[in-house]
Amino acid sequence: MRLAFDFLLFTLTTTTSALTMRPVRPVHPAHLPLTSAYLTSLPPLPPDFTLSLAPMMEYTDRHFRHLCRLISPEMELWSEMVTANAIVNTKENEDYQRRFLQQSPLENPTILQLGGSDPSSLALACKIAVTSQSWSGNWNGINLNCGCPSDKVSLKGCFGARLMESPKLVGECIAAMSEAIEDTPHNIPEISVKCRIGVDDNDSYSDLTNFIDSVTAVSPVKTFQIHARKAVLDGTFSPVDNRTIPPLKYSFVYDLCRDYPGLNFHLNGGVMSLTSVYDIFEESNEKLKGVMVGRSIVSQPWYWSNLDYVLFGKYPENGVDTRGDLVMKYAEHAEEEEAVEGVKARRRLIRPLVNLFNGEDGGKRWRQKCDEIMQSAGSKRKGYAEDSKDYRSLTDLLREALTVMSEEAVERSRFDTFELMLLKEKIIREEGVEGGGGGIDKVARQAKAVWEAERRERERIMKENDYGNEDEALQNTS
Ligand SMILES: Cc1cc2nc3c(=O)[nH]c(=O)nc-3n(C[C@H](O)[C@H](O)[C@H](O)COP(=O)(O)O)c2cc1C
Repeated sequence: MRLAFDFLLFTLTTTTSALTMRPVRPVHPAHLPLTSAYLTSLPPLPPDFTLSLAPMMEYTDRHFRHLCRLISPEMELWSEMVTANAIVNTKENEDYQRRFLQQSPLENPTILQLGGSDPSSLALACKIAVTSQSWSGNWNGINLNCGCPSDKVSLKGCFGARLMESPKLVGECIAAMSEAIEDTPHNIPEISVKCRIGVDDNDSYSDLTNFIDSVTAVSPVKTFQIHARKAVLDGTFSPVDNRTIPPLKYSFVYDLCRDYPGLNFHLNGGVMSLTSVYDIFEESNEKLKGVMVGRSIVSQPWYWSNLDYVLFGKYPENGVDTRGDLVMKYAEHAEEEEAVEGVKARRRLIRPLVNLFNGEDGGKRWRQKCDEIMQSAGSKRKGYAEDSKDYRSLTDLLREALTVMSEEAVERSRFDTFELMLLKEKIIREEGVEGGGGGIDKVARQAKAVWEAERRERERIMKENDYGNEDEALQNTS
């Protein structure tokens, strides 16, 4: 039985998909039949394909990025947008500079996103970011924001999405930024542009190609991250409206891939699952260079813990196999940061964790526990302050917070999480359940029951094959 399995695996790993010529992945022997069938139908994506965390103000600070890096060594991380003026005007103030530019030692590859429309201050901000301090300067790329629709940015500041109306200026900004980092010791490959597919009535495909043509005519930019919906800048839409109301038009991005073979395009907007990343890549005729995901990673971070394996056929070896591992590893980072910044940093340190158990029974209690730790930072009454005799470390508090969740939810592995999600997707597809609380809860319960039965079956298979545990099984297949 074991030999037959190994032979099958050898055959799988040494063949290529007839359709794509990409190699077929080895499949973990402990996978459930559903997962195995699903994964063998998917060759890993090309190694230069990128799955990136979208830049999000108030979210993608270095702590959230640290959490994401523990979740996935492969994900490309992005900073929040930092305005060029903020960097330039605070260059003498280390506290501010750390807030904007510090990276956690683990986190690279990370892209720094800048906002602005003045070529000289953008150039200076680039120079400061890559040369100033030992705790900055390791960025793997710099990006110019041409997609933010907020009034503050696009009306008063005249940058963000508003810049799509001034493509020549965008080109000049990129040219100045590229020149500024040319002679710096850090090898930043290029400045990229994140934009929408259009603004207001300038929303046709030819308006978009005019933008691309004009920007590339005056600058060396080769890479665009495209949020595939237009921005409405007439003041009637809030930023949230501008992320939900204008329809997504992925076809514009696929057409750009076809029409500009010398440029690199990444698609962003509304991507909610790993499986849809495959669909999008296929629909671009395998020309897309990456997919960028924002809100889904914030709202269900652990779900994305499978991206290394599902998209790239890699298994992270960082000791984080469950959410329990993740919280304890993250606590190490949080404690190091707290030692430097004090308990006042607890709000920002705990915030990345609040959605970790979304969708699980007890997820609300977990959020409450996180809130408690955040709100009590510095409160002597609650015994959290550093100088209180009742002071408790973040590791201690987070370990206690985990006890509100079931052991199964805390210990559920990356694979199991993925399997459960596939089962949910399958039930939704087969039974046509529409979104909405009640229906989704029912699906979740149904999926859990099937999954538990299949898990018992898997344990039986593992025993039959004489694998001591899943790690051993994995080693035998890689
Ligand atoms: C809270 C929040 C803050 C955001 N901040 C930024 C930002 O700083 N820079 C930027 O280019 N886009 C920003 N965006 C837009 C996202 O990067 C992304 O383009 C958008 O959310 C669509 O992707 P999604 O559907 O995967 O979330 C933000 C989005 C959200 C939800």
